[in-house]
Amino acid sequence: MLRHIDFDMKVVTSVKELEACVERERLDNKVLGLVPTMGALHAGHASLVERCTQENDITIVSVFVNPTQFNDKNDLKNYPRTLEADCALLEQLGVDYVFAPSVEEVYPEPDTRQFSYPPIDTVMEGERRPGHFNGVCQIVSKLFYMTKPDTAYFGEKDFQQVAVIRAMVKDLALPIKLVPCPIVREDSGLAMSSRNTLLTAEEKHIALNISRCLFESVDFAKKHSVLDTRNKVVDELNAISGLDVEYFHIVNGITLQEVSTWDEADEIVGCITVFCGARPVRLIDNIRYK
Ligand code: PAJ
Repeated sequence: MLRHIDFDMKVVTSVKELEACVERERLDNKVLGLVPTMGALHAGHASLVERCTQENDITIVSVFVNPTQFNDKNDLKNYPRTLEADCALLEQLGVDYVFAPSVEEVYPEPDTRQFSYPPIDTVMEGERRPGHFNGVCQIVSKLFYMTKPDTAYFGEKDFQQVAVIRAMVKDLALPIKLVPCPIVREDSGLAMSSRNTLLTAEEKHIALNISRCLFESVDFAKKHSVLDTRNKVVDELNAISGLDVEYFHIVNGITLQEVSTWDEADEIVGCITVFCGARPVRLIDNIRYK
């Protein structure tokens, strides 16, 4: 549903211009919200943007495929780029500013800063994608410095990313409130992702087993151990041709360390990464057990 149509959306490509816009809005005492994205926007991103427009006077959405968080050159090359369609959607959603800079604009010099928040960033994605979270912290901290938002919105689809950014905000003592937003799924249950566009129709059909298995595991978990629940999900998915589980960790939702019993933590989340199809496409998803 469209909340309001604002045809004054500005697309900004330079840091200087962005900072000037932010300063103007701040002088007007406007409350600023930021939604960082890499574009190829879908309903998952839109849910963050809608929440942001509801809770702030001014909504800034960044659209930037950040090279420093890709540890695989092909992944970076193949990442979908659809700026025109993204801007059309963002304008409909009532966004005030789109920040869509070039790589040179964001990184005039190589970013040599190192961010490290063990053990949150050393497990799961951190272990499989060396340097990934360092790159995420580099770009998100820059976006925070450039836009000085009151609030920033992130999706729980990237559960570990939210935890790492929370640690960074605390570490840098930034006066920014983080709002984690629930995963938006297709009707089939498949978690929405820009990478879904890389799947063939058949692969997409196979991929929806990931969320189906995760949902079913919630009931199973009520009567079985953590290990049995983990094994059931992994074995069931690996038995399906075209799917290959990279990892499935059932973790403490705060520390992101694996748990061995259900009463070990107040928040328990199962985080999964699965390779799907011939290319293959790497899909991530997660499910909350408590
Ligand atoms: P990107 O993958 O474009 O995602 C932008 C934001 O949208 C992230 O916070 C992500 O968690 C959220 N999101 C993606 N799919 C979602 C879904 N199905 N439901 C709810 N939220 C969803 O994450 C990144 O970009 C980058 O790492 C970024 C933070 C922008 C830094 O470059």
